[in-house]
Amino acid sequence: MEKFLDLISAEMKQAFERAGYDKELGKMTVSNRPDLCEYQCNGAMAGAKLYKKAPLVIAQDVAKALEGSSVFAKVEAAPPGFLNCSLSDAFVTSYIAGMSEADKFGLSAPKKKEKIIIDYGGPNVAKPLHVGHLRSAVIGESVKRIARYAGHEVIGDIHMGDWGLQMGLIITELKERKPELPYFDESFTGEYPKEAPFTISELEEIYPTASGKSKEDADYKAKAMEATHLLQIGNRGYRALWDHIIAVSVADLKKNYNNLNVEFDLWNGESSVQDIIPGMVSYMKSEGYAHESEGALVVDVKEETDTKEIPPCMILKSDGASLYNTTDLATIMERRDKYAPDRIIYVVDKRQDLYFEQVFRCARKTKIVSDQTELLFLGFGTVNGTDGKPYKTREGGVMRLERLISEINDKMLAKITENDPDSDMAQKEQTAKQVALAAIKYGDLSNQASKDYIFDVDRFTSFEGDTGPYILYTIVRIKSILNKYAQAGGNIADAAFCSETNASEKALMLELAKFNAMMEAAYAESAPHKVCAFIYDLSNAFNHFYHETKILTEENETRKRGYIALLSLTKEVLETCIDVLGFSAPEKM
Ligand code: ARG
Repeated sequence: MEKFLDLISAEMKQAFERAGYDKELGKMTVSNRPDLCEYQCNGAMAGAKLYKKAPLVIAQDVAKALEGSSVFAKVEAAPPGFLNCSLSDAFVTSYIAGMSEADKFGLSAPKKKEKIIIDYGGPNVAKPLHVGHLRSAVIGESVKRIARYAGHEVIGDIHMGDWGLQMGLIITELKERKPELPYFDESFTGEYPKEAPFTISELEEIYPTASGKSKEDADYKAKAMEATHLLQIGNRGYRALWDHIIAVSVADLKKNYNNLNVEFDLWNGESSVQDIIPGMVSYMKSEGYAHESEGALVVDVKEETDTKEIPPCMILKSDGASLYNTTDLATIMERRDKYAPDRIIYVVDKRQDLYFEQVFRCARKTKIVSDQTELLFLGFGTVNGTDGKPYKTREGGVMRLERLISEINDKMLAKITENDPDSDMAQKEQTAKQVALAAIKYGDLSNQASKDYIFDVDRFTSFEGDTGPYILYTIVRIKSILNKYAQAGGNIADAAFCSETNASEKALMLELAKFNAMMEAAYAESAPHKVCAFIYDLSNAFNHFYHETKILTEENETRKRGYIALLSLTKEVLETCIDVLGFSAPEKM
């Protein structure tokens, strides 16, 4: 379907033309004085210079040319030369009725279906997830769903940190604790045990212990580095142990991401491209892209126009070990060969932007990425506490994701129990989780990703204001009205829009009409916050309509069926939007 704004602009443009002016002046915008009109056009002001005429005269000419328009019910030329417009009920309702019948509410299929890889999540194996990982997961998941909804082919890849020093640290600590394990016996040639020699909680304790020791004890650190090296060159026992670490961690990660309603198509990691690295390195050398510098292998990536220092991209350390960026570069190569993507989007902490600048430049310079592939860094800001400092536990420690989620769950459960003391407890716990997830995700996604935001439990869990629970509450309210209508014998499928509307009903329709333009922009700009802003406005418009209108007691059947059609559409649009944001609404709350 054509976008609403384009349709009304087309009508205005024709009027400019009929009145003898350049039709390009006829662009419409949403009114910035909603008390005066619904949409406005400022083209007469821009035309004043061109035609050496008073803007008001031009506006009057255009308004005259719009007499009898089927799109506009009222066009007013207002000093100094605004065109204040109200739309005709019939035009608005027919657009809305078209939306309700169209696939995806009239969102047009993309001109070209793109193949997009989203690199998000990025947890580090064996390290517990903390609040920083929340943003990558929540934003990446939504960007993925928006792109899919917009009609593109999207692959989500978790890109785990599973190959670095943390692996060597865990192996070293295990060796200190259980030296008798066969993994440490060089002469062992048999089959290693199927069962891991640790549980996830042990693993989560082992890593911080080892990391702490390595900071104090240089010998210990050297051992960990050696273990990392041995693992990376294929030591049999260490590989077997590593397999266990991965299996135990991945099972736990899957549980955590599942609770967040986050799903990955690929569970690849830094380790997945190890076999590609040697070939990539010799290619970079033989093509003359990489050179030695103080024993290390580097690619220069600075450019003449740089205003800040961009250091060379290190491909191999002097001991031949690969680095974080070596794996990222090899991953770009692998993605090129396997998927030929049009775009790769990295949803990573914005403090890594210089790093990605280096990696992207290096990939372009060495031509390991095709010219057609766009590399996009979507850097996100920090999650802060109400004190404006990075979010911590009350004791000042790093906030683990599980703890943060359970704090919000508890708060939500208390609220829901207060509203509804009678229902079954298990049911309420279920609902609390669902609403809590909306609180967390909406609290994050309603901010522009690049900005820092304050994680404010009280605000996020409020049923009022710009929050996830408010949106869900609105959906639940609509569901309850529709249920009552059906229980009283009404048939929702028979509902039909009525071309006569009251003011708040029309205002709600005008919000709905913005859907396809909003979704296109949210996709083009990888911007979930646009979806949030839209559903917040839409919910406000709905609640205003609800308070102004007697819906179920309306006596005029045609009007009543019109309300029901509008309620159904509003509910479907809201549900679609929260689905692309990655959460869902309960039946009651
Ligand atoms: N594991 C990394 C970290 O915790 C994030 C990975 C981001 N993705 C990437 N392709 N480098 O910082």
